[in-house]
Amino acid sequence: MTRHFDVQPGGSLRGRIRVPGDKSISHRSIMLGAIARGTTHVSGFLEGADAISTMNVFRALGVRIEGPDRGRVVVHGVGPGGLRAPNGPLDCGNAGTAMRLLIGLLSGQRFGCTLIGDESLSKRPMRRVADPLARMGARIHTQEGRPPVRIEPVDGALQGIEYPMPMASAQVKSALLLAGLHAQGETVVTEPAPTRDHTERMLEGFGVQLARNGATVRIRGGQTLTATDIDVPADISSAAFFLVGASIAAGSDLILEHVGTNPTRTGVLDILKLMGADIERINPRTVGGEPVADLRVRATDLRGIAVPPELVPLAIDEFPVLFVAAACAKGRTVVTGAEELRVKESDRIAVMADGLRALGTAAQATPDGMIIEGRGDQTGPVFSAGSIASHGDHRIAMAFAIAALRAGGPIRIDDTLNVATSFPGFVELARGAGLSVREIAA
Ligand code: S3P
Repeated sequence: MTRHFDVQPGGSLRGRIRVPGDKSISHRSIMLGAIARGTTHVSGFLEGADAISTMNVFRALGVRIEGPDRGRVVVHGVGPGGLRAPNGPLDCGNAGTAMRLLIGLLSGQRFGCTLIGDESLSKRPMRRVADPLARMGARIHTQEGRPPVRIEPVDGALQGIEYPMPMASAQVKSALLLAGLHAQGETVVTEPAPTRDHTERMLEGFGVQLARNGATVRIRGGQTLTATDIDVPADISSAAFFLVGASIAAGSDLILEHVGTNPTRTGVLDILKLMGADIERINPRTVGGEPVADLRVRATDLRGIAVPPELVPLAIDEFPVLFVAAACAKGRTVVTGAEELRVKESDRIAVMADGLRALGTAAQATPDGMIIEGRGDQTGPVFSAGSIASHGDHRIAMAFAIAALRAGGPIRIDDTLNVATSFPGFVELARGAGLSVREIAA
């Protein structure tokens, strides 16, 4: 079965909506709940295919998990040494986060296992976790750096290492911290630039002691996690589509409820503000160790900017829709230092540049980013009607659906099945807010 989006042009976004739960936090709630001692209750869980893949992997590892039921999940933690050898390969589906964090978590176990993924995940680089884990004593085999990933059991324990990370990646940092839990001595990870710190915050919530000092985090092996309750905030990466949509569509005034505003995730807010966006944080609060706020966004004229490279890792998943914002801005936007975009669910630099050009925007892909000539100073639509290949990438599909708010004719987006990996219910929620999107199954 294939699915595509038909999006009619124009409209504005209004009202109050709550986008689904944070994907990063949902994955981690299952992983840490599974290895903790006791029962973890999760609410606001993302019932998207990626987080469900993680859930099914832990079921295959012998963990009893109830739900998801309207965002509620109960994880019956197995405690130290409690995971069981699976009967077959562990399928991570489309989820890079699941696979990379699992490689870390499973590399110190006394049983072997094999991790597999879908076509897109099977092309994604895994040496970034396999290499440092091998230095800790893990025995990991990849297919020339890509999945399937075979993890052999270790005799004895992994050894803690000091690892200055060559790239800014929360997945690599998290894989090493999870391996460090099962290692002798201390594991010390230093990142070249700040990345999302949900693993660190959640480990602390489960009672693990970490030493965090600037760019360095240290974890001592052998600590036991104690179950806790987790309230997953709405995913700022999903909110980003609406932050951009309401900024670019005249007459918009939208409130996004209960959005996670962890400072390692708010690069999208900072970038949009530099572009002149009108976004207000209402009622900031802390929920289970994570900052949360309601976000009110109103339409404004955006201007093109040179995106500060230090904001790139803090907005890494939001670039597809930020490129759409740039196309609607007055003047040129330049993104640099974003080569990681080339190894996401698709090559997001190439795929976005192709799509923007197909809709009449001057967009030039560079090795590590893009140069976009915004058309915000023109009257009338920014984008022409057109057809977009999403390459099965959820965020590409949703970014171009949002572009239709400023298009002169309908936009068709192919291959939208994977939108459900991060944003189940996108079509209904977007329609309710004012986007004329329909999903067609063929
Ligand atoms: C994630 C980290 C990011 C992000 C991904 C989720 C995580 O990847 O792109 O969607 O949950 O740790 P990198 O840290 O590899 O850049």
